[in-house]
Amino acid sequence: MNATSREPLLSVRDLHVAFESQSGSREVLHSVTFDIFPGETIAIVGESGSGKSTTASAIIQLLPGTGHVTSGSIMLGDDDLTLYNQAQMANIRGREIGYVPQDPMSNLNPVWSIGFQVKEAVRANGIASGKKEIEARAVEVLKQAGLADAEKRMHQYPHQFSGGMR
Ligand SMILES: Nc1ncnc2c1ncn2[C@@H]1O[C@H](COP(=O)(O)OP(=O)(O)OP(=O)(O)O)[C@@H](O)[C@H]1O
Ligand SMILES: [Mg+2]
Repeated sequence: MNATSREPLLSVRDLHVAFESQSGSREVLHSVTFDIFPGETIAIVGESGSGKSTTASAIIQLLPGTGHVTSGSIMLGDDDLTLYNQAQMANIRGREIGYVPQDPMSNLNPVWSIGFQVKEAVRANGIASGKKEIEARAVEVLKQAGLADAEKRMHQYPHQFSGGMR
């Protein structure tokens, strides 16, 4: 891959993240640094609790609980996402950066159909507008994810999906 000849799409530099508790501040990311170049796929491997999910959550500013970035930068092109406010982040989430959470059973709502939840994401991210167009785009998204019988699947609930489908 000749990716190094181009600018990175995402450049995480010297990222530190801590969680606060009654017993004080606990740093869980200690100087995380990596680049992702256009067209490149990177996998981050590490033991349970080493900070993989925290790294991903920090990038899209969805750190759970008391988690917060204490130093470092997260450059998306020329912009440092650590300096973005919530409105600015909402603008790029789902458009420029997407996040597929680790635990689909706690991230999919069990009482809503898959179709409802995918349509909600399509609508919220401004990917399509109008009932018909949103419906069509949601079906397309499921097909892109490899679900052959997408139209039928739209009406099903998370418990009717296999682990991989979820
Ligand atoms: N909401 C939270 N409050 C306090 N500490 C947290 C919170 N979420 C994660 N942590 C801590 O941050 C550290 C990194 O956790 P993280 O979930 O990023 O690990 P991981 O590498 O994704 O692990 P796994 O492979 O099990 O998914 C752990 O020590 C964990 O206890
Ligand atoms: Mg994880």
